[in-house]
Parts: sequence; structure tokens; C-alpha cells
Amino acid sequence: MKFFLDTADIDQIRTASEWGILDGVTTNPTLVSKTGRPFLEVVKEILKVVDGPVSLETVSLDAEGMIKEGRMLAELGENVVVKIPMTPEGMKAVQVLESEGIPTNVTLVFSPVQALIAAKAGASYVSPFVGRIDDISGEGMKLIREVKEIFLNYEIDTQIIVASVRHPMHVVEAALIGADICTMPFAVMEKLFKHPLTDKGIDLFLKDWEKVPDKPF
Ligand code: G3P
Repeated sequence: MKFFLDTADIDQIRTASEWGILDGVTTNPTLVSKTGRPFLEVVKEILKVVDGPVSLETVSLDAEGMIKEGRMLAELGENVVVKIPMTPEGMKAVQVLESEGIPTNVTLVFSPVQALIAAKAGASYVSPFVGRIDDISGEGMKLIREVKEIFLNYEIDTQIIVASVRHPMHVVEAALIGADICTMPFAVMEKLFKHPLTDKGIDLFLKDWEKVPDKPF
């Protein structure tokens, strides 16, 4: 499973990239606004650091506007993926952009049939949101299981990006289901490294190392 960061924060992206586990980045207008910086400045920096796919979101509500914005965004880098909301107008835009070789990521997907529609329109990626479903007492990961099953039934090659991830167990469950990608906040990616027995083990080894005579380092 690929690991994407769901952020527009360049420091977080640089750090994860240095860890060697960053496969791509997803952004949205909320994440870009949190940086407080001009959109193009932020995006150009991200594209310099990340080799993998970088999703950038359109904001128009009509297909014509989305297509125009999508073409502009795609000009910024070969690895740009245009994020389009799950609406009828959005699916019109997906068809056009994909026919021009511009990959799309259909976002704000909350039901299995929305994911199927996105795939039928030709989207390269679909982003079902798990955390926001959990937030309203639903079962976000059930959506991922159902989308995966439908895509397997019909050998659909649209990639599933598990989005709106809140904690490491979302990542584990996404991998168990066989999702293609999990996009997560930096705080969640950091937590993936953690295990109390790892910390305890390091402490013990360091204490014992002190007892070793004539150490080379
Ligand atoms: O970028 C899409 C999605 O991951 C947003 O997550 O935490 O705002 O529900 P969240």
C-alpha cells in the first residue's frame, strides 16, 4: 500500500520524504489555507520535493470551470493529479481531463456507488473519506471494504485512496482490505513508527551497551 501525506505543509512533506516512505501527497483547499501562503508558491514547492502523484483540488462547481482549472494545475508538473468533487458536473470534467491524459482523483466520496460512478467516468483515483463517516457514527472502513469488493468484481483499475484518516488503525485496516493508497495527516504518519516495546528495547540495549568494554563508538 502506498503512503501519501494529506497536507500542504512543506516541512512535513520534506520530513516524510527523508524517511523514505512518502509515495505522494494530497491537498485540499482547507489544507492549503492552513499554510497561510499563496497557492502557487506552496504548490510549486511541494512539486519540487515530491516525485509521486500530488493531488491539487479544483474549486469551480461547473464542469467548464473545473476543466479550465484542471488544465492549469496539470501544467504545473507531470505528477499533478486533479482533484474533482463527486458531482455530475465533476464527472463531466473527469471524462474530459482523463481523455487529455490528465489524471483525476474524485474526492468527497461517501458511498460505494459514488466510487463506482467515479470509476465509470474514468477517474484514475477515488477518495472515500473514512474519518468523516466515523465522525457521524458511521463505519468508515465498511465503505472501503465495499468499494474494494466492487472494484474487484469488475476488475476496475481506478485506485482507491483511503482519505480522511484519523489514526493508525485506519492505516492498518486499509492495508488489510488491500486499498491501493492511504493518505494521512503527518501526525498519523509519525505515530506509525511508535511501539512502546521498541522504545523499551532501545533503552535496554543502550544500558547494556554501556557495559561493553573498549567500544569503537
Ligand atoms: O483531503 C481529503 C481528506 O483526507 C480530508 O480529511 O480530516 O478533513 O476529514 P479530513
